Amino acid sequence: MTAPKKLFIKTYGCQMNVYDSERMAEALGGQGYTEAKSADEADMILLNTCHIREKAAEKVYSELGRFKKLKAQKPDLKIGVAGCVAQAEGQEIMRRQPLVDLVVGPQSYHRLPEMEEKAREGEKVLDTDFPEEDKFEKLKRRPKSKRGPTAFLTVQEGCDKFCAFCVVPYTRGAEVSRPADRILTEARDLVERGVREITLLGQNVNAYHGAGANGDLTLAQLIWELDKLEGLERIRFTTSHPNDMMNDLIEAHGTCKKLMPYLHLPVQAGSDKILKRMNRSHTAESYLRLIERIRAARPDILISGDFIVGFPEETEADFQATLDLVEEVKYGTAYSFKYSTRPGTPAAERPQVDPVEADDRLQRLQALLTRQQREIQDSMVGREVGVLFEKPGRQAGQMLGKSDYLHAVHVADCDRQAGDLARVRIVSSRTNSLAGELID
Ligand code: 5AD
Ligand code: SF4
Repeated sequence: MTAPKKLFIKTYGCQMNVYDSERMAEALGGQGYTEAKSADEADMILLNTCHIREKAAEKVYSELGRFKKLKAQKPDLKIGVAGCVAQAEGQEIMRRQPLVDLVVGPQSYHRLPEMEEKAREGEKVLDTDFPEEDKFEKLKRRPKSKRGPTAFLTVQEGCDKFCAFCVVPYTRGAEVSRPADRILTEARDLVERGVREITLLGQNVNAYHGAGANGDLTLAQLIWELDKLEGLERIRFTTSHPNDMMNDLIEAHGTCKKLMPYLHLPVQAGSDKILKRMNRSHTAESYLRLIERIRAARPDILISGDFIVGFPEETEADFQATLDLVEEVKYGTAYSFKYSTRPGTPAAERPQVDPVEADDRLQRLQALLTRQQREIQDSMVGREVGVLFEKPGRQAGQMLGKSDYLHAVHVADCDRQAGDLARVRIVSSRTNSLAGELID
């Protein structure tokens, strides 16, 4: 019998890391770990890191530095680094920061329990392999523990697209889809534990092609299987690539009631020259036509996107093409970034844009995106939407939830509970949320 120990996981980056952290916590639960509320009370600290942009890795190193004092006070404290920085930097992490005991890449999480034992015995352990075995099968969930109304479920991992700026194909590896029956079993278990909304995750989720009973399933076919699950009310998926937006998935947005009217479809840039250099294999025009087809299937769908400004050799005219595309699409929400050099990716070697110019472009793009986001949010006032309540708000009697379109919604004097789905009329729009009232 192992003595109870406390684990603190700090998660950076994408939703897949959030999912992975949860699975790591469950895997280490078998080693006697329970959740620590803060790093101070932990026997083991794991940083689940992100490598997508420069500052993320630097943040990890400075965070690690802050644990020096803690480790000096508590020599048995074990410190681990997981995630994409672990994969990309490997041994370098322990060289740069000797207080690290354990480094584990995203494909080796199922080996964490063994690694933890070795670390306890004083070994420095590193695993950044891409093993053959199915890590998800080996990362067993803690059965039947109750959980909140929304959950992530990874269905696909890795990417074969090799956009010229992106580290994902190197840190997460080749594109792999999980078999459909395992996903359905996990989804059923989540629903039994109180989950009402599942977001299917994958770096290239719409490239999903997991094995089913009669051959591979597309993402749309998987969604239709999930649609049959009683108790599951809402399905979302993220992140999609424009080139994998197949007809059956577009149609499902029009016909599957549980599939929510929200689509994250990154375009990255609006200039065909830049898109080509990014190795995106779509044009601005083909993206716009695709958005048209999606809106024909589901006119009220909220489109979300990702943008990079200041990609090598981007001129003012190229940037203007991005602004033009944004004007045409009208994004309900968007994430925009200044290009950051990732060593080992093709674009890292190319002539870089002046950083002051790139900053200026980012500000102009963000001003436009924020305006659009606000306009779309404001246009919800007076409309009836579905809201899934997640938790009580700060004021007495208030409940917080998300609309079908993923807007945060507050309802005052609300007699509903977390996990309840209700029809709500939107009455006002604030900076980052909507206020609504229940419709009886
Ligand atoms: N620099 C800036 N942004 C990047 N992204 C990915 N790689 C980089 C990079 N090197 C952005 C893309 C992607 C999102 C997750 O992060 O927009 O869609
Ligand atoms: Fe990276 Fe997405 Fe391009 Fe894949 S499709 S290389 S994850 S930006």
